[in-house]
Amino acid sequence: MMSIPQYIELEGGDRMPRIGFGTWQASSEVLEKAVEAALDAGYRHFDTARAYENEVSLGRALKRWIGNDASRRKELFVVTKLPPGGMHPHLVQEYFDASLNDLALDYVDLYLIHVPFAFEHVPGDLHPANPDGSMKVDLTTNLDEVWKTILKLKETGRVRHVGVSNLNEEQLKRLSDIKKPECLQIEIHALCQQESLVAASKELGIPVVAYSPLGSKALADTLAAKTGRQYPDLLTLPTVKRIAESHGRTTGQILLRYAIQRGIAIIPKSTNPQRIKQNISLWDFELSGSEMKELATLDRGENGRICDFSFFRGVEKHRDFPFKKQI
Ligand code: A2P
Repeated sequence: MMSIPQYIELEGGDRMPRIGFGTWQASSEVLEKAVEAALDAGYRHFDTARAYENEVSLGRALKRWIGNDASRRKELFVVTKLPPGGMHPHLVQEYFDASLNDLALDYVDLYLIHVPFAFEHVPGDLHPANPDGSMKVDLTTNLDEVWKTILKLKETGRVRHVGVSNLNEEQLKRLSDIKKPECLQIEIHALCQQESLVAASKELGIPVVAYSPLGSKALADTLAAKTGRQYPDLLTLPTVKRIAESHGRTTGQILLRYAIQRGIAIIPKSTNPQRIKQNISLWDFELSGSEMKELATLDRGENGRICDFSFFRGVEKHRDFPFKKQI
């Protein structure tokens, strides 16, 4: 068996579990139950965002688990993100405080810039839209300045590590020239393998975390209904099915193990206790070199991207919109 550490070591020796629990599109009681099941299954890394509007539920479930034993907090690795409406240097602290307050924590382990583009700050509305349905995009914001402010936030001790999400290669290098982000979280799965960005990130020494590692069916279905575009279901691809059968594993486990063997951390999400367990049970089997090669051929590059932000009409006009091609 090849040896892959179950943690990624960050500055100062903190450890980020390589398998985390994603929470996008889950809210309220369903999420609280799922987080409980995830804690039981052994997850300690939890990924949320202000924009998911579920920090209260996640915080509540974590608090119950911590109970009266404050030392348990140290076992957790909690991630949240600055929303597009907070991409204004003078408002970063306010948005961060709101997250910390909702999570009911004293600190977060990792704070990420969620997206490089920005919305106008509209109190009480994380997704401000114009009457025609397009977003209230703020074209005046500056990603570099927001990054410098996030770095200052780290000095308060209430954020242990800082990083970025949904950046392209040029943006990642630009911010690294100011100060290297400690994590890059991007969409990665079999159809959108992001080889060049992963390589660039590795070269810079920045750990990569894959969101939607199973192809985010809920988002794909929503977008398909809106645009008519077809998104193949990763979990039923013949290649993945065949490899799963030969290992006696599920197709989900094959897709996740593929990312792990590429050296990428993952944050799969599920609300089903059985699948929650499956998704963290990836350490006792290994894909062969030829299986890795076969899975690599499934990549569709930019055309495989699901989360292209087309659901936020107007953001493509922002100079820091990260993706070249709008599909
Ligand atoms: P469910 O909550 O019913 O398990 P992603 O992490 O890429 O966004 O994918 C999440 C989606 O994949 C959810 O719809 C989730 O549904 C489903 N899912 C999660 N784990 C598995 C698995 N092991 N096998 C099949 N589907 C899964």
